[in-house]
Amino acid sequence: MTLETVPAGEEQDIKTILASLKQTAENGEPTGSMGHLVHRKAHGLLEATLTIDGGPEHLRFGLFERPGTYQCLIRFSNGSGKVQKDSAPDVRGVAIKVKLNDRDWSDVLYENETGNTQDILMSNGKVFFVRDVADYVEFTRQNANGTPLKFFFGGYNPFRWRFHEAMCLAGSIFEAVSNLLTIRYGSQTAFQIGPYAGKFLLVPSGQPAPQFKRNTSPNFLRETMANHLMIQPASFDLLIQVQSLPDKMPVEDPTVEWDEKLSPFYKVGTLHLPVQQFDNARCDKLAESLSFTPGHTVHHRPLGGINRVRMAVYSALSALRRRRNGVLK
Ligand code: HEM
Repeated sequence: MTLETVPAGEEQDIKTILASLKQTAENGEPTGSMGHLVHRKAHGLLEATLTIDGGPEHLRFGLFERPGTYQCLIRFSNGSGKVQKDSAPDVRGVAIKVKLNDRDWSDVLYENETGNTQDILMSNGKVFFVRDVADYVEFTRQNANGTPLKFFFGGYNPFRWRFHEAMCLAGSIFEAVSNLLTIRYGSQTAFQIGPYAGKFLLVPSGQPAPQFKRNTSPNFLRETMANHLMIQPASFDLLIQVQSLPDKMPVEDPTVEWDEKLSPFYKVGTLHLPVQQFDNARCDKLAESLSFTPGHTVHHRPLGGINRVRMAVYSALSALRRRRNGVLK
């Protein structure tokens, strides 16, 4: 089954984006250690397990083929390239690294992870705010010029403004989050699930969470998560939705939400975060040393233009960051 349609000129566009992002990363931090170019502020690096507990038959492929429990590391982050107060409008990200075998973490994290890990990267919100690679060239250009809003509202002709994309982003950045363990996260882009294209969703589950209010601390998201996990565990259901009608559920445009009436989400696993203390220097160092990318996969190939550019960008940018910081040779 053909799941992707690659437009002419995309390869060149990906090179343009990559060159621009590398330059931004190097110009931003000409000396000293280098942070993540985006999703810079980590709230914490946590331990978890993912239990695959017999999802529906039609989704039993790859990681979801048979029951099992896997060790995971999870990095929670804000989406911005700046470290800013948690009260500022921002995307909230979760990056899950699933260890696929019994090797030690230390054996699989710092060399080629291929075959050892499955990473699943998600953000709050079901849709991304850029349709395709060609548009991402423009977004990168405006960002590099320090005028990101012009990507949405550039020029004098309102008929050419990107209102739809602005609404997609607004849905994520204006969500009033008080506890990162009680919100939903979506993969937004699609991945191969056997013969299908599918999207992931993470939905809080388990016992009712302790109630926390947003507060004036610049790092209240880390603090509420630490307080939550000091007194009780947290869990999420991992769900998958597969594409049923390609015209209405495009792979090449992640700003389009796939209608759950056309194809519902089904639970395939449970992510369990035990009681733990993660707000310490050792976990913070690990959060900055790791590389999470949709390219760390065995069976679930990232699909669509936005994922194709991500495949090029994450490996190059994380290698730059990790070499600069002495994590890789
Ligand atoms: C063209 C689109 C995108 C580009 C160019 C992009 C680029 C990046 C880059 C450069 C990083 C930092 C990588 C590193 O230093 O290790 C990053 C991190 C991240 N991205 Fe994306 N991204 C894109 C789309 C998305 C989408 C659609 C999602 C999920 C819905 C997402 C979720 C994340 C998350 C959660 C992280 C943090 C990973 C970590 O904790 O290490 N990104 N992205």
